[in-house]
Amino acid sequence: MAFAELWRELEPLGRDPASGGYRRYSWTAADAECRAWFSRAAEQLDLTVEPDNNGNLWAWWDQRRTDAIVTGSHLDSVPDGGAYDGPLGVVSALAAVEELKVKGFSPERALAIAVFTEEEGARFRVPCLGSRLMTGAIDPETARALSDDDGDTLAVAMTAAGGDAGLLGPREDLLDSIGAFVELHVEQGRALAPMGAALGLAEGIWPHGRWRLDFQGRADHAGTARLADRKDPMLPYARTVLAARHAAACHGALATFGKVIAEPGGANGVPSAVRAWLDARAPDEATLETTVTSVRSASERFCAEHGVALSVRRESYTPVVRFDQGLRDRIAGVLAAAGIKAPVLPTGAGHDAGVLAARVPTAMLFVRNPTGVSHSPAEHADLADCEAGVRALALVLENLAGPVRR
Ligand code: GLV
Ligand code: MN
Ligand code: MN
Repeated sequence: MAFAELWRELEPLGRDPASGGYRRYSWTAADAECRAWFSRAAEQLDLTVEPDNNGNLWAWWDQRRTDAIVTGSHLDSVPDGGAYDGPLGVVSALAAVEELKVKGFSPERALAIAVFTEEEGARFRVPCLGSRLMTGAIDPETARALSDDDGDTLAVAMTAAGGDAGLLGPREDLLDSIGAFVELHVEQGRALAPMGAALGLAEGIWPHGRWRLDFQGRADHAGTARLADRKDPMLPYARTVLAARHAAACHGALATFGKVIAEPGGANGVPSAVRAWLDARAPDEATLETTVTSVRSASERFCAEHGVALSVRRESYTPVVRFDQGLRDRIAGVLAAAGIKAPVLPTGAGHDAGVLAARVPTAMLFVRNPTGVSHSPAEHADLADCEAGVRALALVLENLAGPVRR
């Protein structure tokens, strides 16, 4: 089945009809549909699908499990996410493997497609949870206790979906079986379009993290409480949003409040509490720390002025990532030999490849995003560019996994 056909099959799963965006949260019905679709598609290619203990799926070319060339990405989404972030890498992996099979390629090395779970951290708030668990970057006890907005823990959600959260934990054996990991991903930003390039290669990932800020005030009557008497947590929160924007602009960083909950949520009441999540990213770790520290101290000042208590907790952190130079050079050579231009780009977006990079040689291929918009239903890549991505990935897998042909 070619790329377009696989894409058409996956496209309707987990799409919200009103927004047109995707709500493929881990361990939900939409997630189960995506997993079932992947397993079917992989089995049609004669791959052997093996779920691991952390909720990730592995589809192996044959029985070999050493020094493997692995490609893949994720199928979960942010709230109302785009179609491409994650799925493009999975569908391209399947299409590239099909292309290799059709041309009679017989790999000298083991080859597999991986689908990582909860990459976005959209449900349990820690991104790249599947790859973090696998590499030991988060301990299983902490992971099991992570809870979603309804208060359901990962342990409960996984069990309800038929998994066994008791088995979560690092997989040294699986990591040892990977010789290299190559993730293809839609570009998130707009660097390739002005360069006239359909594809790019990742240089590294900015350090980034998420911080939860709880502003605790006092609920009161919107129509009677005098302004001077209020302990309104919305006010220091609002000022903190502006301070974050200012700090990011001053330091050449990025800072975003994309999620906020006012409690108890009555339109005619001063809220008792505001809970908000700061996503911050910067070119280096010192700048990231400076940015977050300055947002935090501004927020503490605002809270003191408004009689509001503040607590700040870091929920996730990813240090700076530099992808394997040798692997990137080899891939660049393969692409150049095929006449494919692929400029090297940095990115501020997190990926499972970034987590795995701490343990195995890792590289990323980007497919041009003409508008640069991502984490949005408007995210897009042209079919011709997606197909160019598949061709490039097939060339890369063929080169890395060995030149034998039947
Ligand atoms: C992943 O998409 C991220 O938020 O960086
Ligand atoms: Mn994403
Ligand atoms: Mn992604």
